[in-house]
Amino acid sequence: MSLSLFFIWFIALPAFLNAQSPGLLLDCGAPRPTSEAGLQWLPDSDFINTGNTTSLSTPHIRTTLSSLRYFPDTKARKFCYVLPVIKGARYLVRTTFFYGSFDGGETPPIFDQLVEGTLWSTVNTSSDYALNLSSYYEIMVQATGKSLSVCLARNSLTRSHPFISSLELTQIGNSVYNSTDFSQHALATVARDSFGYGGPIIRYPDDHFDRFWGPFTDSSPTVNKTGNVSSTGFWNMPPARIFKTSLTSNLPNPLELQWPLFPLPNSSYYVALYFEDNREIGSSRVFNVSVNGVTFFRNLNVTTSGVVVFATMWPLSGHIQIVMTPAEGSTVGPLINGGEILQVLMLGGRTVTRDVIALEVMKRSLAKVPLDWQGDPCLPRQYSWTGVTCSEGSRIRVIALNLTGLGLSGSLSPRIANLTALSDIWLGNNNLSGSIPDFSPLRRLVSLHLENNQFSGEIPPTLGNISGLRELWLQNNNLTGVVPNSLQTKPGLDLRVSPGNRLVNSMPGAAT
Ligand SMILES: *[C@@H]1O[C@H](CO)[C@@H](O)[C@H](O)[C@H]1NC(C)=O
Ligand SMILES: *[C@@H]1O[C@H](CO)[C@@H](O)[C@H](O)[C@H]1NC(C)=O
Ligand SMILES: *[C@@H]1O[C@H](CO)[C@@H](O)[C@H](O)[C@H]1NC(C)=O
Ligand SMILES: *[C@@H]1O[C@H](CO)[C@@H](O)[C@H](O)[C@H]1NC(C)=O
Ligand SMILES: *[C@@H]1O[C@H](CO)[C@@H](O)[C@H](O)[C@H]1NC(C)=O
Ligand SMILES: *[C@@H]1O[C@H](CO)[C@@H](O)[C@H](O)[C@H]1NC(C)=O
Ligand SMILES: *[C@@H]1O[C@H](CO)[C@@H](O)[C@H](O)[C@H]1NC(C)=O
Ligand SMILES: *[C@@H]1O[C@H](CO)[C@@H](O)[C@H](O)[C@H]1NC(C)=O
Ligand SMILES: *[C@@H]1O[C@H](CO)[C@@H](O)[C@H](O)[C@H]1NC(C)=O
Ligand SMILES: *[C@@H]1O[C@H](CO)[C@@H](O)[C@H](O)[C@H]1NC(C)=O
Ligand SMILES: *[C@@H]1O[C@H](CO)[C@@H](O)[C@H](O)[C@H]1NC(C)=O
Ligand SMILES: *[C@@H]1O[C@H](CO)[C@@H](O)[C@H](O)[C@H]1NC(C)=O
Repeated sequence: MSLSLFFIWFIALPAFLNAQSPGLLLDCGAPRPTSEAGLQWLPDSDFINTGNTTSLSTPHIRTTLSSLRYFPDTKARKFCYVLPVIKGARYLVRTTFFYGSFDGGETPPIFDQLVEGTLWSTVNTSSDYALNLSSYYEIMVQATGKSLSVCLARNSLTRSHPFISSLELTQIGNSVYNSTDFSQHALATVARDSFGYGGPIIRYPDDHFDRFWGPFTDSSPTVNKTGNVSSTGFWNMPPARIFKTSLTSNLPNPLELQWPLFPLPNSSYYVALYFEDNREIGSSRVFNVSVNGVTFFRNLNVTTSGVVVFATMWPLSGHIQIVMTPAEGSTVGPLINGGEILQVLMLGGRTVTRDVIALEVMKRSLAKVPLDWQGDPCLPRQYSWTGVTCSEGSRIRVIALNLTGLGLSGSLSPRIANLTALSDIWLGNNNLSGSIPDFSPLRRLVSLHLENNQFSGEIPPTLGNISGLRELWLQNNNLTGVVPNSLQTKPGLDLRVSPGNRLVNSMPGAAT
């Protein structure tokens, strides 16, 4: 679900003078670096190779919302940003959307967003847009390599062009949410609020990682305090500011919190609740915490040094009610300062690294590869690269390449031989040149189509060693030398070398 949001106008943001940007901030579609609320934003063009840019005519709009990148191409399966990361480090990724009728329509398009091979969420900004609000989404992921892809993609509901206004990537500390197994999961933010607080969103520099903490008040009494709990006292490093306000109840009443205000889809969630006693000295403040009637923590003793209670995988669905019941003998009522609910997403997996590297190397020697050759080659399944077919199961490998007639040029890297699960390679009707690499490590190869290109040099005799090869089409290239005997005598092989090559006939009757 999308989170709420800033009003689109620039006045709604706090300004941090001379603040260092906490991460990589991209102002999508912007022609030059920009500055908003004292943070530095870069244009996105160095991180994506597709899409068109435009600027909005909405008056007095925040700088980072005033331009966007959109994706009119209906053939590409996904549109990916590729961002530099440190392998093994964890990142907060935030995407922000403000439609602004950039395409002349009235309602924002609906589309999907992906992180690496994982379907992150559907983007639906309609209800925010109707209120002049921008929408943002946040996810916490671990980098598995030196780059991280964040992609948009059409789904069956997409009626116009997917678009994006800004994209942020911020490294989070190793201890943050570290009870989550990030090799299997990602965490998508559902709610993160400072209780008893009514001001603008709390963010960087209060939050070291520029997480957003929204204001949340209800009918419960609020408490202000001047104490000073330190953010580093918690693994999750919440900003110290959230401990300056709280919601409370007076004895003997329990403190009841309907939070967040919207229903949650049935799923597992990471839930963290933050507490700090506001009194410098005093008697015990002890209470039970329950979530939708299930005990979450028993006899929680809240002290002035602060405490967090969390659950790594807590099943929730629908509306959430948190009840804090004072323990017998507690002389003061319960109190709560802040909370986070993050949806636990199973990672979608990824293509076997060896195949990914081989494809990336191949890509470098090819020109005009499909624009969706970014992000994971196979995953999510409905958003694989154009022309790439992959295996099922847990070890996901590339089993076929079909780039017939896509206008490719450049040469074919010998690294294609690392894609050892390939059974079909169809590269006919392009402008590929250079020599034909050694395909013999591809033991499963059944068909190899290189016809109607400009390959030159000799036909590698090692092709004859591939026992299952049934189709070898090489006509209309610029090949020289002889047709190897190993191929001419290979039983069951549909071999086509003519017309259009300059081969010497080494066997009577064999075509050239
Ligand atoms: C997008 O940009 C391309 C080339 O830059 C242009 O040919 C195309 O007309 C543009 N599409 C739209 C919908 O503006
Ligand atoms: C998108 O959001 C709007 C407003 O909340 C809702 O009416 C609409 O059904 C949503 N569309 C989809 C496809 O979820
Ligand atoms: C949104 O902004 C436009 C003009 O900027 C205004 O006419 C309209 O009333 C606003 N809508 C809401 C719901 O605030
Ligand atoms: C989380 O980080 C804290 C602080 O570095 C450390 O003490 C703790 O053992 C870590 N927990 C896990 C599960 O890694
Ligand atoms: C807490 O502080 C805010 C802003 O400073 C103020 O509006 C509010 O009335 C205070 N609440 C209490 C209970 O003192
Ligand atoms: C803040 O914390 C420091 C050290 O933890 C302590 O010396 C100081 O008295 C505290 N200040 C207040 C206002 O509580
Ligand atoms: C949530 O999903 C789980 C597993 O799919 C199911 O067992 C459970 O009954 C669902 N709960 C609700 C409230 O729908
Ligand atoms: C709560 O913690 C304080 C400080 O650690 C301690 O003095 C007090 O006895 C505790 N209360 C209960 C009920 O455990
Ligand atoms: C707190 O929870 C425990 C265990 O669930 C229960 O025995 C106890 O009665 C509860 N206390 C209150 C005040 O609800
Ligand atoms: C490869 O694509 C071409 C053109 O789209 C198609 O005619 C051919 O059947 C495909 N080959 C395989 C093995 O799917
Ligand atoms: C991939 O190919 C290169 C050169 O062809 C080779 O050195 C390397 O070991 C191969 N890598 C793997 C993982 O097979
Ligand atoms: C064919 O190869 C020869 C050299 O072997 C080269 O001179 C010629 O330009 C090539 N022709 C084409 C159409 O690539």
